[in-house]
Parts: sequence; C-alpha cells; structure tokens
Amino acid sequence: GQFDLVIHNGLVVVGSDVMPPSTYIGIKGGVIEQISATPLTGKKIIDAEGGYIMPGGIDSHVHLSQKNTPAGDTFESGTRSAPPGGTTTVIPFAIQNSKEDFDLVSAVEEYHTVAKNSSYCDYGFHVIISNPNDEILKTQLPLLAQQHGITSVKVYTTYPRYRLSDEQVLEILLSNRKLGITTMIHAENADIIDFIGKKLEEKKLTDPFYHSESRPKVAEDEATYRVISLSKMIDVPILIVHMSSETALATVRDAQNNLVPIFAETCPQYLFLTADYLKHQCSHHVHKDDPFEGAKYICSPPLRQSQAELDGVWKAIQNGTVTVFSSDHAPTIYDHPLGKKAGLVNGIPHYKKVPNGLPGIETRMPLLFCKGVETGRITAQRYVELCCSNPAKLYGLDKKGTIAVGKDADFVIWYPKGKMAPFVLSNSMLHHGIDYSPFEGVEFTNWPRYTILRGCVVWDRDNGGLMASKSTGQYVKRTGSSMPGPMGKLSYIFE
Ligand code: URP
Ligand code: ZN
Ligand code: ZN
Ligand code: ZN
Repeated sequence: GQFDLVIHNGLVVVGSDVMPPSTYIGIKGGVIEQISATPLTGKKIIDAEGGYIMPGGIDSHVHLSQKNTPAGDTFESGTRSAPPGGTTTVIPFAIQNSKEDFDLVSAVEEYHTVAKNSSYCDYGFHVIISNPNDEILKTQLPLLAQQHGITSVKVYTTYPRYRLSDEQVLEILLSNRKLGITTMIHAENADIIDFIGKKLEEKKLTDPFYHSESRPKVAEDEATYRVISLSKMIDVPILIVHMSSETALATVRDAQNNLVPIFAETCPQYLFLTADYLKHQCSHHVHKDDPFEGAKYICSPPLRQSQAELDGVWKAIQNGTVTVFSSDHAPTIYDHPLGKKAGLVNGIPHYKKVPNGLPGIETRMPLLFCKGVETGRITAQRYVELCCSNPAKLYGLDKKGTIAVGKDADFVIWYPKGKMAPFVLSNSMLHHGIDYSPFEGVEFTNWPRYTILRGCVVWDRDNGGLMASKSTGQYVKRTGSSMPGPMGKLSYIFE
C-alpha cells in the first residue's frame, strides 16, 4: 500500500550493519512498516542522495528545568535544540528536591507537568537520589518503575548536596539489582576535591582555571575503581557517567575484559576541549577582554589538561570501552546573576560559586559525526552504537535507537560527503536558551539535513528549519535494560 513517508537512496546504518542505497524504508502511522530492496511509494518521499540515514539520536544525559539550576535551559528551550542537532529523544533528570524531602513520586509528577506540551522531542526521565531511605527504595522506586517506566537512577559520590557514602551506594545497587533498574554513577572522590579546594582558597587561587586543579584526574580514577568494586560486590551492572580520564577508562576496560558488566559514558567536552579554555590567557579566540570568560567552561568532571588526555578518551571511543555518548547538557546562561556570573562576587571570581555544566544537546551528534565518522576515526556503525542503539538498550527504550520494522520512525539524515558548505559555528545558529556554546569557532563539515520523529519531519535544514512544535514530544515509558544483568552472586545474603 501507500506509505505516509518513504526514505531512500542513502546508506542505512544500524549498530551492526550498513544497508545499501537501494534500500527503501516505508513508514506508516509513525512506525517503520517495511524495509525493502525494491521501490516503495509514499505520499512523501525523501531522497537522501547517497548520505547516511541513521536512527534518531538519543541523548541519555541532559538536565532541563532543574530547580537547582535557575538560569539553565527549560524543557522548551533545551528540547528546541534537539531536532536541529539530530536528536529525537532525550532523558533528563527528575530530582529529589532535598535530602530531607522523601517524596520522589511527587517530584516526578511535577516534572511531568513541566515537560508536557513543552517538548520538541520525545523524552523519558531518570531520577536522582540523594537520600536512599526505605521509603524511596522499597515503595517509590518500584512504583516509578512500574507506573512511570522510569528504569534508571543516578547517584553521586561527590557534591555536598548529593554525595552518598559507599554503604549507601551498596544499598541502592542492591535495590536496583532486585528491581532491574540501571544505576548511573557520578564518580569523583569528594574528600580529595574538598581538601584541594580548601588549600586553593587559603592561597586565594579561585579563578575559573582552579576549578580544574580542584578536581584532579586521580579523584576520578580512585572513585571509578571504587564504584566498580562496589558494583562487583553486589554483582549488578553500573554505568559510570561523563568519564574524562584515560586512566579511569582503562580501569573500565580491564573490568570489561574480565566480563564484568561495567558501562561507560563520555561527552563531547572530554573529546574536544582542554583546561586551557578555563584560563583567561588561553590560546584560542573566544575570550576577548573579559577575564572571567573561563567560567563558561566549568563542568564536572573538569576539562582535562592536555591533548594527550583527550586522545586517551578518543581511544576509548574507538576501542569499544565507551558505551554511550551523551551531552551532559547542564548549562547556565553566562551573563545572568544566577548563571555563570554568580561566580563573580563583588568582582572577585570564585570557581566554586559558578554553576557547573555546559550546553551541548544540539552540537553532540554533529561534532562526533564530523570529527569521528567523516575523519575515519570511527565507523558509521560505531557512531550509531554510541549515539543511538546503546542508549536505547541500556535504558530500555525499546522502540528507539535502531532502524527495524515495528520501531518508531526516528531518523537523522546527513548530507552526502562534500555537499554541505563547511561553516564555523556561532551561538546564533543554535536553538537553545543559552547565550554561548563552548563549541563556537569549531568548523563543521556536515550537519543533520533532516531529522524525523515518529514519521514527521521535525528538522529540514534547507526548507523551513525547525518543523516541530513544543507539543510534538511525547513521554516515553521505558522497560528494563537489555544490557547484561547480574549473575546473582551471594543471593543467599542479598535476596
Ligand atoms: O558539571 C556538570 N556536569 N553538571 C551537571 C551535573 C552532573 O554532575 O552531571
Ligand atoms: Zn554528574
Ligand atoms: Zn579563550
Ligand atoms: Zn549531568
């Protein structure tokens, strides 16, 4: 029969395969209904002209409308930047309001209200847990998993507000093992960070650059080794978020080589930016006369010192150690009293007062495509694994992240190599609500030409630009992870 949409004449990439340009994809009712080697007819036809056709991107680590980030992106302004960057699904965090507030279910309901009719792409939620008491672990998490399809939890080993003890992490891991929930862990040694922070403060070393000195690589290395040990103890998989250290990634690699199910995430900032950007007198062009501009690059873990470190993270992208590539979009406006400028107190800079995090939803997919796939550093399949199919598997998005019959018709279509005129990025080209991008000045050789969400064109770069509205995005209930699970060790103690 007649399809709503037919896409053809491109290299169709899924995590394990590339199908030739003779492939036709037939879409009806927002779903992929047929993949054919012979022509299909449709009401609308998209000719990819030999470019790559990939599953829509999944950005599984973003922060939107978080109450603790008043000058950040809202659901509306953050997701507005998703389709133009090839992303069709995001997973932001619903956050426990305070350690004393145990009503995580109400917090999630509030996020539902905030997100509904304010999202340009599909979305799910992770929850952040800062106080793993019985009420949350035994009553609320099972309810959130069953009724809301929230099957992942983030915990922190650092930040005074969120930091958990090792024993609390063990409690959550055991609870998650029983419930089949994926655990995301922010791994940095909090005592090292507090200790160095105090020493820097005594010496009045508080410029933005000292943010990176205060969170050294060893803090990540130690905490990574520790949380892997905790995961082995409970015999349950974990995902270590936003990894920036080659050494820590080597520890993950070692666990993976021993068939221990440890997953790793990294982000564009750890592939493309060094701590040089935090300095006023840095070697690139963005800073002009504003000595505080380094604050734009404050995120945790911090940008690392050398290109050699960045190369180490690239190696982990190439060799399979890294499981998912997310943005950790956690921005705040620079020129705003509650944004990055909050770190200037009476004209004196203090890195500790600068909200942490960078914008990056829109630039994530194009950066890795241009600098990874088009340069030959990674294959197109590896790219799809990192940006689409692994996040879908890890987080139980069972209709997303691949191109197969019965799945949601979510796609990103790239220009055939050489067709798009290369350009240098400026913030005015982006669709978020933030007044800068850390990737301004980067040259792009490609960009999403079309982004398609459940069969609708939501981004057409050459004809109309953003076609989605803020009621386009739908909430996605997730199932459990299909990545390797626990082996059930010590069940006589734990069950
Ligand atoms: O600096 C960052 N990444 N802030 C966001 C919160 C987090 O730890 O992911
Ligand atoms: Zn984190
Ligand atoms: Zn600079
Ligand atoms: Zn984050």
